[in-house]
Amino acid sequence: MLAAFFITLLLTDGVSPCDRSYRDLLHFLNLTQKTDLLAMTRPVKNHSEPTEVELDMLLYAILDVKEKEQKFMSYVWIDLYWKDEYIQWKQEDFCNITHISLPTQLLWKPDIAIIEMTEKNKVTQSPYLRIFYNGRALLKIDMVLITTCKLQVYKFPFDTQSCNLTFKSVIHKDYEIQLVLFNNSKWTTNWSKEMTGTQSDWLLISITSIKGAIHKYGISRSLVVYTITMKRRPVLYIVNFILPVMLFLCLDLASFMISESGGEKLSFKVTVLLAVTVMQLILNEILPSSSDKIPVIVVFCIGIFGLMMLSLLETILVMHLMEKDSVSKESGADKDQNQSVQRLLCCSGSAGETPSQLLPLARQVSSGQLTGESHDSEKEVMTGSSRKEDGPIGYWTRMAKAINKVFFIFYLTTVCLFVVSMFYSWIKEEEEM
Ligand SMILES: *[C@@H]1O[C@H](CO)[C@@H](O)[C@H](O)[C@H]1NC(C)=O
Ligand SMILES: *[C@@H]1O[C@H](CO)[C@@H](O)[C@H](O)[C@H]1NC(C)=O
Ligand SMILES: *[C@@H]1O[C@H](CO)[C@@H](O)[C@H](O)[C@H]1NC(C)=O
Ligand SMILES: *[C@@H]1O[C@H](CO)[C@@H](O)[C@H](O)[C@H]1NC(C)=O
Ligand SMILES: *[C@@H]1O[C@H](CO)[C@@H](O)[C@H](O)[C@H]1NC(C)=O
Ligand SMILES: *[C@@H]1O[C@H](CO)[C@@H](O)[C@H](O)[C@H]1NC(C)=O
Ligand SMILES: *[C@@H]1O[C@H](CO)[C@@H](O)[C@H](O)[C@H]1NC(C)=O
Repeated sequence: MLAAFFITLLLTDGVSPCDRSYRDLLHFLNLTQKTDLLAMTRPVKNHSEPTEVELDMLLYAILDVKEKEQKFMSYVWIDLYWKDEYIQWKQEDFCNITHISLPTQLLWKPDIAIIEMTEKNKVTQSPYLRIFYNGRALLKIDMVLITTCKLQVYKFPFDTQSCNLTFKSVIHKDYEIQLVLFNNSKWTTNWSKEMTGTQSDWLLISITSIKGAIHKYGISRSLVVYTITMKRRPVLYIVNFILPVMLFLCLDLASFMISESGGEKLSFKVTVLLAVTVMQLILNEILPSSSDKIPVIVVFCIGIFGLMMLSLLETILVMHLMEKDSVSKESGADKDQNQSVQRLLCCSGSAGETPSQLLPLARQVSSGQLTGESHDSEKEVMTGSSRKEDGPIGYWTRMAKAINKVFFIFYLTTVCLFVVSMFYSWIKEEEEM
């Protein structure tokens, strides 16, 4: 009897062999008997006092931001701490056991939900929760969240977005569950920044958290709002979108060096215009249609499209003028031809040759004029009279060239101003944020 007492004394006092196990602790806490009761009700001794639930959220990854559907996908780690007033033990009595892990269904848990959640989220919840000797309980939840977020695409792709994650209890009112913030925002931001790092095309700027409340239908609930602010990394969109459009614009500018004769310039310009249209279609797939303000990038695209359209119209006008010129040239040439034929006829008459002998020559001249093959022979035949006609023939061509020159300067200035103003509005908006 005495020996047994000494042995127990040795065991409890000594550092080594400790006979108190987790099971003893469970027995002590009466968790083996009235488990149903524990899980059913809020673990407070005085029901008028609220259970304080401390909430800690860490952003592990920004998975996706869908502008079109106005959705934000993230992977978050949530820690919930609260106090279970029915569970307490002295560490010293149980071999310095500071905490135990218990199946989650064994104890009461706060019913925390996220207001913005749109789809049934993929939750990875540990089957255990942790209970500390002072009654503090910890539940860890990992979630892939798909939440709604009002995305402002005005500055796309140089935009900064803010998405809210609002936590609340589903049925408990604010006198039953009080949500409080566990950690300060700075630490959360710091940790989340380190975690998200360079993974996605979004750069995490900050996570701010505030405690609030909603009052609806005479019921007030405690809230915790996390606002995730992030900035898009625009490089991909610059390389894949803005740069090609700018290059197409450069091609359009370069096309002023192509000569107007023939339809090459026109078809070239139409091709470049179509390429810009394709870019616009791509843009349509990305941006939501329900934007209150027209995004800068759309204005940019439409503006460039309009400018190219203008230059295309100018080309058509110039070509029309040249055509007019060549028509008058042709008619003038026809007159020449008639004159030369007549001259040939009259001259030959004076020389005493028969018209029938000269007829093949005249025919040759006329055919040469029509096909435009033998300009040299024609010039030989034609005398100084053709020189006189040169002034009025070139009039439209000169006019067209002048229009072209003036338009090119105007076009270049407009393009420069437009591009600069577009980039200015992008950057200005960025600074405002
Ligand atoms: C467990 O139950 C017994 C008797 O029902 C009670 O005396 C004891 O205080 C309970 N233990 C705890 C930790 O509530
Ligand atoms: C329960 O809490 C309320 C509010 O804190 C207090 O007024 C009341 O006296 C408490 N009741 C008991 C039995 O401790
Ligand atoms: C429990 O912790 C105390 C203080 O740290 C220490 O003195 C004691 O030896 C520990 N007991 C056991 C059984 O580890
Ligand atoms: C996010 O929450 C804050 C604080 O409640 C609010 O001011 C802000 O308008 C919310 N933002 C959005 C996009 O709902
Ligand atoms: C936030 O949590 C971390 C880790 O749990 C801790 O090291 C830090 O001290 C906490 N900061 C505040 C302000 O509670
Ligand atoms: C954030 O993290 C960096 C590097 O890990 C550290 O130097 C800095 O002190 C941290 N800031 C806060 C507020 O925790
Ligand atoms: C050429 O002259 C003939 C008669 O001299 C006339 O019938 C014809 O219309 C003229 N052609 C042109 C293009 O002026």
